[in-house]
Amino acid sequence: MNLELSEEQAAVRQLARDFVEREIAPHVVDWDRAEEVDRGIVKKLGEVGFLGLTIDEEYGGSGGDHLAYCLVTEELGRGDSSVRGIVSVSLGLVAKTVAAWGSEEQKRRWLPGLTSGGYVGCFGLTEPGTGSDAGNLSTRAVRDGDDYVVNGTKTFITNGTWADVVLLFARSTDAPGHKGVSAFLVPTDTPGLTRRTIHGKLGLRGQATAELVLEDVRVPASAMLAPEGKGFSVAMSALAKGRMSVAAGCVGIAQAALDAAVTYAGEREQFGKTIAHHQLVQELLSDIALDVDAARLLTWRVADLIDRGQPFTVESSKAKLFASEAAVRAANNALQVFGGYGYIDEYPAGKLLRDARVMTLYEGTSQIQKLVIGRALTGVSAF
Ligand code: CAA
Repeated sequence: MNLELSEEQAAVRQLARDFVEREIAPHVVDWDRAEEVDRGIVKKLGEVGFLGLTIDEEYGGSGGDHLAYCLVTEELGRGDSSVRGIVSVSLGLVAKTVAAWGSEEQKRRWLPGLTSGGYVGCFGLTEPGTGSDAGNLSTRAVRDGDDYVVNGTKTFITNGTWADVVLLFARSTDAPGHKGVSAFLVPTDTPGLTRRTIHGKLGLRGQATAELVLEDVRVPASAMLAPEGKGFSVAMSALAKGRMSVAAGCVGIAQAALDAAVTYAGEREQFGKTIAHHQLVQELLSDIALDVDAARLLTWRVADLIDRGQPFTVESSKAKLFASEAAVRAANNALQVFGGYGYIDEYPAGKLLRDARVMTLYEGTSQIQKLVIGRALTGVSAF
């Protein structure tokens, strides 16, 4: 693997840096305090091509490889994880999954809107009673003529209140466990689908996280994505790539923590010199820098494997596991460098820590990633 960026990849990274400086950085604190990112950001993300990365141009995509996708999600994560999450879900979990599994008709129906930012997508897998044990979900889709009638509740759905379409996972046959699960593309204005914003989150406060309730929601059979009973494979394949983009976002958090802590250490004086002179502060900075590099290398390896058509699921779990834990450590170490100022939101460390904390939970907890890695090592499944 060549670790030097191509001209094209370096240009995409610069584009993302400029975008963050111009469109995100000036608003981060306000959006966090208001618990709402300005929705206009979606259109801007679409215009600059960030919602179409890796998607074919014939469906409105902006092409590019998975390393470019990682570079953009890292930069967005460095700016604001709430914005990075919009891309990771609407593009990463929904558009890329439609591109991989959809019929020609489904791709033409949904991809141009999702890649341009005209539509927002959300991923309806988690339920109040099924988080890690996703294959045990209880939302039901019952066949009725040419339609399915869906009933159930989804929770912790990123982009939930903003979304125009939900990639919904529901049990449509009596086959046991994950084998009875199918995937559907459901417009969120379908009668019977209601949404409620979830407030009171520790971090990602600007993100539109929601509960979705489906009561007798009628969905045409043509909305099924992939064959009946293949829904869990659809979800797992989406998450395998999704975990890479979460890892890239975590690299962004850790890099932001490093940048802020190094700058502050060079300005703040204690004991007659800047705190950068103090060896224990240097140790904190060094620990953050190591986490940044290691997390980035693990993440880039996943992108490289995907782009070369090699298996990547276990490597993606490793990257997500390490990078999410590293982001929490890095933000916490940065906060320590800032001292008391780190504890108030005029300085960035507190928000970075709050935003990082969920990364060890969503798209598969750290414990689930360890079990995926352990299963690959031993050939024995804990599930
Ligand atoms: N691509 C395609 N198919 C795949 C696949 C992949 N990468 N990985 C697995 N599959 C298929 C398997 O081939 C198998 O198919 P068959 O039954 O047809 O053979 C099926 O999926 C089941 O695979 P496993 O045996 O690996 O599945 P499991 O039941 O052992 O999985 C688990 C257990 C790994 C714990 C899984 O349930 C899991 O990942 N849980 C965590 C759930 C999760 O990450 N939730 C995140 C919610 S979404 C979110 O957070 C988004 C957001 O809004 C931010």
